[in-house]
Amino acid sequence: MHGEVTISGAKNAVLPILAATLLTPEPCVIRRVPNLSDVKFMGQILTWLGAQVRVEGDTIRVQARKIKGAGDYDLIRRMRGSICVMGPLLGRLKKATVSLPGGCVIGARPINLHLKGFRELGARVTIEGGYVHASAKRLIGSAIFLGGRAGSTVLGTANVMMAAALAEGMSVIESAACEPEVVDLANFLNAMGAKITGAGSPTITITGVKELHGAEHEVIPDRIEAATYAIAAAATNGEITLRGARADHMHAVLDKLTDSGARIERSGGAITVRRNGRLKPVDITTLPYAGFPTDAQAQMMALMALTPGISIITERIFESRFMHVSELARLGADIEIEGPSAIVKGGKQLSGAPVMASDLRASAALVIAGLAARGTTHVNRVYHIDRGYENIDGKLRQLGARIERVEEA
Ligand code: EPZ
Repeated sequence: MHGEVTISGAKNAVLPILAATLLTPEPCVIRRVPNLSDVKFMGQILTWLGAQVRVEGDTIRVQARKIKGAGDYDLIRRMRGSICVMGPLLGRLKKATVSLPGGCVIGARPINLHLKGFRELGARVTIEGGYVHASAKRLIGSAIFLGGRAGSTVLGTANVMMAAALAEGMSVIESAACEPEVVDLANFLNAMGAKITGAGSPTITITGVKELHGAEHEVIPDRIEAATYAIAAAATNGEITLRGARADHMHAVLDKLTDSGARIERSGGAITVRRNGRLKPVDITTLPYAGFPTDAQAQMMALMALTPGISIITERIFESRFMHVSELARLGADIEIEGPSAIVKGGKQLSGAPVMASDLRASAALVIAGLAARGTTHVNRVYHIDRGYENIDGKLRQLGARIERVEEA
């Protein structure tokens, strides 16, 4: 594949940022919003809660003049990310009720740390009838340790930060997530009048304010979408320029691609990735940011399946994020799972086959493997991929891929 692709706004930044618009009755304008089914869902949830939501191209205008504190059971249950409306509702209304997000194929994904944070701020939290209820007469700033089984929690940090923004006094979150998406949210909250420092580090300090006002914000580029196209360039022996990508958000991925033999050039707001001859196997361990992102693990596994030699990929964030292994095996990959690690014996020529997407990033890995395989690959259940990739087939065709969306039989 050859050419340029423009990176869209980040899904995992825009979801909590849209939820944060619930913190004020004033209008908010969010720019560079990716056209994704998850974003549409969040729009429906905000509308359900009483906000006015207007979409104009890649800009969303939200005004949550008057809102209710309870989210629609089915809507919230359908998208895990929507749990992050709980912090803003609790912060603004001192009450919030949402359906308990179930687990998903990649792991149990409990929200105990979110709830711990709300309790530390003085909320009473109960779980009943499939709903989580949180309420408080007053929210009082507090010191909150958010470290868990796999280190920090991204949406947990976001949720607690949003509730604490309207609490009385100062809160300090320790073992906070350092992801760029958390920083982007903190920047938006500060633009609304919040007083947050330390975002991007494990210690975030929030001095509560009485109220927040409307604000405008441009969402950061999606580092995982950019990583996916970078890996696709290496997998297809191509050269792709990622327009608008932020290299400073992608060190771990670019570092591993360089180790594997790809050439990376950074210039003026773009990153160019090209394959430079034979690839080398690399070992990967997923970690909280700035370590290697779990959301790029499957795509990297597809690349290692194509790379002669043995590589070991260890998943430390989610306990069952290897659903793509059996589907890659359908294409001829040789991968064995040993506990939290997958041992990839790479270099075999893959051949096209019908495969099934199980989750968002697994589906991206199957598309990359299909682009490098001989023959035709059919990836089924692509609704998974539309949740997190804007117009992926259109962008890939622009880069020379032979890919088309067809109605499933
Ligand atoms: C965010 O999920 C992302 N989603 C995920 O991206 C991403 O994989 C994940 O962060 C890790 O980077 C969104 O931002 C919408 P976590 P989140 O809480 O916040 C455990 C994608 O592909 N944990 O940081 O839900 C949890 O089970 C998606 O775009 C607790 O134990 O993830 C996991 O093992 C998939 N208790 C680990 O922490 C808690 O209360 C990290 O989860 C919360 C989390």
